[in-house]
Amino acid sequence: MGNAVIDGDHKAFIELANLIHMCHESGDDKQALMPSLLTVLNEYVGGHFLREEKALRSVRYSHFDEHRRKHDLFRGRLKVICEEYSSGYRSVVNDLHNLVAGWLVNHILSDDMRYRTWLSRATVDNRPLAFLSMEAESSARESGDGDRRNALANNRPY
Ligand SMILES: [Fe+2]
Repeated sequence: MGNAVIDGDHKAFIELANLIHMCHESGDDKQALMPSLLTVLNEYVGGHFLREEKALRSVRYSHFDEHRRKHDLFRGRLKVICEEYSSGYRSVVNDLHNLVAGWLVNHILSDDMRYRTWLSRATVDNRPLAFLSMEAESSARESGDGDRRNALANNRPY
């Protein structure tokens, strides 16, 4: 996208997608990775989406609302997968694999490419994903997002 921080996030997502693919293709023993993958993916999503949305808002990106809706859709689908996993449904790796593979093609390589020229003028928050993820969590808490709040209280991915 021409911005080192956003590009770094996308590379990290590709690595995560590769791990999820490996998990999906392997036997049950490798699925021991699932709790860690879900935790890292939640942190990534919280941090990276906030970084992108802040940058795009800073330049009044013309497709901002549409772009954020797509992020919200991904967040919602990931939340369902985490809930299913928490309630003992162990086949979520298929859904996770489809979600991540689809996101790579339909969002990162397509929707995100559309903001490329806007990004060169944007202010990009370059703090590490973990910090941004915490900020996203606390603003969700302040806005009364009960599901995230309960998940945090129970120390599980939301
Ligand atoms: Fe995006």
